Amino acid sequence: MVELKFTDQNVVVTGAASGLAYEVAKQFAEAGANVVVADFDMEGAEKAANQFKEMGVKAFAYKTDISKYEDFEALFEETVKQLGSIDILVNGAGIGGIGPITEQTPEFVSKLIDIDLKGPIWGCKAVAPYMMEQKHGKVINFSSQAYRMMKEGSIAYGVSKVGVVALTACFAREMAPFDVNVNAIAPGSIRTPMWDATLEEWAPGDKAKQDELFKELIISAIPMGRTQDTEDIAHATLFLCSEYARNISGQCLSVDGAQTFSY
Ligand SMILES: NC(=O)c1ccc[n+]([C@@H]2O[C@H](COP(=O)([O-])OP(=O)(O)OC[C@H]3O[C@@H](n4cnc5c(N)ncnc54)[C@H](O)[C@@H]3O)[C@@H](O)[C@H]2O)c1
Repeated sequence: MVELKFTDQNVVVTGAASGLAYEVAKQFAEAGANVVVADFDMEGAEKAANQFKEMGVKAFAYKTDISKYEDFEALFEETVKQLGSIDILVNGAGIGGIGPITEQTPEFVSKLIDIDLKGPIWGCKAVAPYMMEQKHGKVINFSSQAYRMMKEGSIAYGVSKVGVVALTACFAREMAPFDVNVNAIAPGSIRTPMWDATLEEWAPGDKAKQDELFKELIISAIPMGRTQDTEDIAHATLFLCSEYARNISGQCLSVDGAQTFSY
């Protein structure tokens, strides 16, 4: 098995207090990288950062609301102050929001766009000057299989995730002259706290019904017959940030068990 090494590289992962981004951050730490856990859940972020420090790398938690551009500016200033550079940025934070547009409030739709679409845009914009100056870097944005599915109940979320793919392609071209790779991952279905929150809305307080709904609606639609794991998303992220992927940029890699495709 090929083992990827990121010794002494400095990685900022947003949303790393939980779910997919937590696993990404953990695998970077296991591969020798220093990790900044940027999240607005400081309890979870501190816990993760302490765990990574025990693994022998440098790590710290930084309170960041990704819907605010100035939070990214402060985050990157602190990263460079403490670690010296930003080699990799993973825009992993996000929220879910599946449901008919008629039932979503304008406030919720705005919040979703602010976090899931504008968040990664602010992350890319704020990291650009650092990576342009150092003339290297890797950026990973989290899209979703929703970007290819165009399903009912997925207007604000789907628009955000399509937007993340457009952001990735355009930013990749802006950053190409500076030897910076920009790619996206489109995860399929992973039972993280994000999915638990959605299932709780569908069947409040009924854990057995929630499990049944997940099996019925989600797992049955996956051709490979199984959901993905947080590890699958972390493996894809580390690969795209490795030298094996040095000529891959502007792409969105689906990790969804053959559920969606493009040609
Ligand atoms: N879980 C899935 O099946 C799935 C599928 C496709 C795409 N995704 C995408 O992956 C990303 C992560 O999802 P997850 O399942 O790991 O969710 P999660 O809820 O487990 O974790 C999300 C993390 O982001 C943080 N966060 C949320 N809003 C934030 C904000 N404004 N500022 C800073 N931090 C914030 C949360 O505190 C949490 O730690 C999201 O963008 C999601 O759309 C997930």
